[in-house]
Amino acid sequence: MTTAVLSALPEEQEGLAAQMDALRVVRHAGRDFHAGEWLGRPVVFALSGIGKVAAATTAAVLVERFNARRIVFTGVAGGLHPDVRVGDTVIGTEFMQHDMDASPLFPRYEVPLYGRSRFAADEQLVERLLAAARDPSTSTAVLFDAETLARFGIDAARVHRGLLISGDRFVSRADEAHALSAALPDAMAVEMEAAAVAQVCHDYGVPFAAVRNISDRADDQAHVDFPAYLAQVAGRQARALIAALLPM
Ligand code: ADE
Repeated sequence: MTTAVLSALPEEQEGLAAQMDALRVVRHAGRDFHAGEWLGRPVVFALSGIGKVAAATTAAVLVERFNARRIVFTGVAGGLHPDVRVGDTVIGTEFMQHDMDASPLFPRYEVPLYGRSRFAADEQLVERLLAAARDPSTSTAVLFDAETLARFGIDAARVHRGLLISGDRFVSRADEAHALSAALPDAMAVEMEAAAVAQVCHDYGVPFAAVRNISDRADDQAHVDFPAYLAQVAGRQARALIAALLPM
C-alpha cells in the first residue's frame, strides 16, 4: 500500500528523500515526485507548491498516477488557538476552507454540492500520528537545539489535535487572525493546503491526515517568523513522524 507524503515547500520535507531506497524521480505536471521505498514500504514524496489549487492537483496526481492509498500532509502552519504556540505540533482531525463562501446560495464555508464544510481525517492515521508526535524523541523540544529553541521562544512543545483551516491567504495580521478565531473558535491553526487535499481524498475515498508544526502565530510577526522557521527547522520533525507512521 503506497503512502504519499505531501508538503508545500522543499524545506518541509528536508532530508526525507535522501533516506529512500530504489528512488525514482518522476517529473509530472510541473512537479517532481520521489517514488521508492522507505523502511521497506512503498512511498512517494511530493511537493505541491503553495495554495489550495496546487495542493489539489498534486493530490490527484498522487492517487491517479502513483496509486497512493493514503496521503499525509506535513508542513508548517500559523497558530490560531490561544493554546497553540510556535514549536507546537497540530494533528488535523478536521479540515475546512476558511475562504469558501458561496452565500447566499449555500451557507458560508459549505463546499457547494457536498453538503458540508468540514472533511474529517482518517481516524487511524490520526491516532498513529498522535502517538508518534507524543513520543518524546519526536518532540520539537528534543529535535531543535538550544539556540533554535531560544530564538523562537519555544519553552515546552505541545501536541494538539483539532480543526485545521486552509485558505489562499498567508495570514499575517493579528486582526485577521483574531477574526478567523472569532468566526471559527475551534480552529487550531491556519495554512494554505490541507483542506483542499482533504476534499480530493474524500472524492477518491483515500484516507488522509495532516500534521503541522507551528512556525508563527499568523500575526504581524508572521512574515518574519515563517521564513526563519522554515529555513531552520521545518523538516526535522517530519522525518521522525513519517518514520513512525510507515510500519503501520
Ligand atoms: N503557513 C504557515 N504560517 C501561515 C500563515 N500565517 N498563514 C497561512 N499559512 C501559513
